[in-house]
Amino acid sequence: MRNKVYIETYGCQMNVADTELVMGILKKNGYEITKDADNANVVLLNTCSVRENAEQRIYGRLGNFKNMKNSKPELVVGILGCMAERLRQDLVEDKKIVDVVVGPDEYRHLPELIDAAFNGGKGIGVRLSRTETYDDIIPYREDGLQAWISVMRGCDKFCTFCVVPFTRGRERSRFLGSVVDEVRQLSMRGFREVTMLGQNVNSYKDNENDFADLLAAAAQVDRRMRIRFTTSHPQDLSDKLLYTIAEHPNVCNYIHLPVQSGSDRILRLMNRTYNIEQYLGLIEKAKKIIPGVSFSTDIISGFPTETYEDHVMTLDVMREVRYDGAYMFKYSPREGTKAYKMEDDVSEEIKTKRLQEIIELQQQISFEKNRELIEMEEIVLVEGKSRKSDEFLTGRTDTNKVVIIPSHENIKEGSYVKVKINRATSATLFGEFVDFVYPDENKIALTA
Ligand code: 5AD
Ligand code: SF4
Repeated sequence: MRNKVYIETYGCQMNVADTELVMGILKKNGYEITKDADNANVVLLNTCSVRENAEQRIYGRLGNFKNMKNSKPELVVGILGCMAERLRQDLVEDKKIVDVVVGPDEYRHLPELIDAAFNGGKGIGVRLSRTETYDDIIPYREDGLQAWISVMRGCDKFCTFCVVPFTRGRERSRFLGSVVDEVRQLSMRGFREVTMLGQNVNSYKDNENDFADLLAAAAQVDRRMRIRFTTSHPQDLSDKLLYTIAEHPNVCNYIHLPVQSGSDRILRLMNRTYNIEQYLGLIEKAKKIIPGVSFSTDIISGFPTETYEDHVMTLDVMREVRYDGAYMFKYSPREGTKAYKMEDDVSEEIKTKRLQEIIELQQQISFEKNRELIEMEEIVLVEGKSRKSDEFLTGRTDTNKVVIIPSHENIKEGSYVKVKINRATSATLFGEFVDFVYPDENKIALTA
């Protein structure tokens, strides 16, 4: 039987969600999913093009599969996702490593394209679509507590450094009703947290419904289910959305709001459409409307023409906002983008040095912020045993911080517990159980 598929996923959470869609499509067409590449007839890599080193890693991995194919010639090797859009020519025609190349808007055709490869041809589908949202496809998800739901696809922002508008195409949104149904199904299966995903999730639009309406509708499905969302562009974070987050206790008080740089000049070159004064104004407003809200961000160091002064402005913004967390990157030129035409004039050495300073500052801020929580009580959704020891459980706060507490037989995966924090590092909080939050089947006195 030629029906065992192995998939590896790289890059952002949108790709994780897309892999679940792909598995849904393939399972419906009679394929089995295997976690063992040696056991598979089809090997797929769902890829990322956002930075050069992501692509390099994937090329390395493809080398392994090429070796595997030498000893098993009938193996079909395929590339999905952003690299499929960018490098189809190189992958299929020049390097001849892969049999199937399918971009993010053509997953529906994957079964036929794999068939074409089994029949000795190449399966290629790289057209981008203005309408494809996979609204009717049921993603394949293993049971668990946390699920990703992609609610919109593509991006119309065209930040000058970013390849996403070219690899994932224009913005388009799913129907509100279908997303809410998906949340309901997940709730019935015992999921306790969903993250609404989109490259620019705040520009979600289904006729008269905007992203705030979608969040409100999803939050009402099951009050025990936490709702998160990512990524927010500062330009589209509306007051209505902030009030909606504040109004619904199960919508997490946590906003991922990429700033990218602290320098207005660099932000203009990046086409980010805001300046730092506006960005900080937004943060202030969010803090007023949503008490206890916390933020994370993305930062790029070494964008073309970035000076030491620009870099210091980025450090200043970090100190001002005091992010809970940050994803920090060195600028990587991407062919086809506007910034690619600018000279990549910050040396690798300086990029590395600046990035290091950014990372160190963020670690210090995270550590200070975590230490401020000592002696405080936090509500934690318990996710399971800690990776390091069965004697401890791990969970997360509303603001997405990892908390470790001692195990107890009555505290189950999916329980909400009140925890008193007694120790903190920059990455983790440690605490003691105080009480169960919901009066439910778990509510048995721990000392009984
Ligand atoms: N170089 C470095 N970082 C990038 N990002 C996007 N494109 C690039 C690039 N060319 C970062 C941005 C974005 C995150 C997902 O990846 O910070 O918010
Ligand atoms: Fe890329 Fe900017 Fe769109 Fe984010 S908002 S996906 S960084 S173009």
